[in-house]
Amino acid sequence: MAIQEHKKLGQYLTPAAYAKCISKEAMRAIANSSEVIHVLDPGTGNGQLIYYLLDSLNTQGRLKPSQKLDIVICDIDGGELIHAVTRLHNWLVVHKMRERVCISSFQLDFIKSFPINGWTEKFDLIVMNPPYRRLSNSDESKLYLNNFNMASDNLYSEFLDVGRKYLKKKGFLISLTPRSFLNGVYFTKFRIRFFKEMAIRRIYLFSSRKIFESALQEVTLMVACKDNHWEPVSVVQLRSIEDPIKENETIISPKLIVDKNDFSFLLAKRRPQECKNEIQLGKIKDIEMHTGKVVQFRDLTEDAILIQKTGERDIPFILPEHLDERGKIDWPKIYPKKGNYIRKDAIRESKLIYGQMFLVISRFSTVEQHRRIKAAIFLNPNPKEPIAFDNKLNVIEFHNKSFFYAKKLLNQLLSKETDVFIRGLSGSTQININDLRKVLVQNF
Ligand SMILES: C[S@@+](CC[C@H](N)C(=O)[O-])C[C@H]1O[C@@H](n2cnc3c(N)ncnc32)[C@H](O)[C@@H]1O
Repeated sequence: MAIQEHKKLGQYLTPAAYAKCISKEAMRAIANSSEVIHVLDPGTGNGQLIYYLLDSLNTQGRLKPSQKLDIVICDIDGGELIHAVTRLHNWLVVHKMRERVCISSFQLDFIKSFPINGWTEKFDLIVMNPPYRRLSNSDESKLYLNNFNMASDNLYSEFLDVGRKYLKKKGFLISLTPRSFLNGVYFTKFRIRFFKEMAIRRIYLFSSRKIFESALQEVTLMVACKDNHWEPVSVVQLRSIEDPIKENETIISPKLIVDKNDFSFLLAKRRPQECKNEIQLGKIKDIEMHTGKVVQFRDLTEDAILIQKTGERDIPFILPEHLDERGKIDWPKIYPKKGNYIRKDAIRESKLIYGQMFLVISRFSTVEQHRRIKAAIFLNPNPKEPIAFDNKLNVIEFHNKSFFYAKKLLNQLLSKETDVFIRGLSGSTQININDLRKVLVQNF
């Protein structure tokens, strides 16, 4: 199959070390299961997850003599499925396990064949490394699941959602996916649906983006139980499975990690209420947070942006290029890429902001950047006149706060602690305003 086709189907196979980690978690999950254990692996690919599960169960003697496995594998790609079936049947023959393990395979679209007769609430265990693909509103998978009020913005979250339906009560779902579903507005409806029924028991957060050979992605391995009772959650933070640095595991009360308003997760090292004198940025009185109001392509014509002031009415226009690496504003720049000012007449009044002092934070960061947050204080040289901020910035406005206060806040945002916090909060390189509101700072 052509590389393009592999990409389209999201065929990024699970590296062996991660498949072994999933099988370790799966063995724990089914330790107390009954005589016949029903297992499902949707988007089986070449059978990697089931192969390692069988191998671990066998080498560690974890399958009780009375227990049998009933395994269902399925994939949209018939070629991959044949590969998986051959590989798994060979394993059964070599290890003389044909009597105890039954494998059924189905070539199907896991999303568009929902609901499958007899699969609802059938499985004790579902393991998956689903395909990832952003879904537009016209995508067939999204339109199809809309009929069941289960549409979401990515194919992987739709796999998780359908998996939830096929899981028995108290059954376990173990998944390797991007971590974007844990946070952010796009996945809010999915999270509310999913976590009403599912509780995370353990979650691995990998900070390396190079888990898959040919895709850059921050991923998470989630062990979730179909149970609406949340127990303390084990959070394991590590760079990658291969990383020799010992993993960092913390057991955290669900109250501290799940924001019940939108079911977003605070999986950072420091959490609200852990330190008495800390407060979430968004809860500080007398500050206002928003994104910059000027979307260049929509709100401006090219000649509205100026390098030098040309007239009395030109006002400062602050862009990410005006933030330097040391937390300082470099404005006006001698050789800006875009410009330093804007013609006031070229922009609607609603896009302008009045005030004296602002803390600006870039909404985008690069993987190479030392710290995710790049920020600085901007002082309006003429507070009677408004200024304009580019939409690629987050802006904090201060009311009745001193420069000293703003400077202390800036130093905290640029600190290592905040960097660790924000990386724990979101796997994305974007600093979105809702995540920023959750950042903990000293309440001085
Ligand atoms: C990320 S790969 C994972 C393969 C394997 N489970 C592993 O862990 O190595 C995702 C698999 O899902 C399959 N797939 C993609 N879209 C699918 C769909 N709508 N229904 C079923 N399988 C699908 C792909 O063919 C691919 O084999």
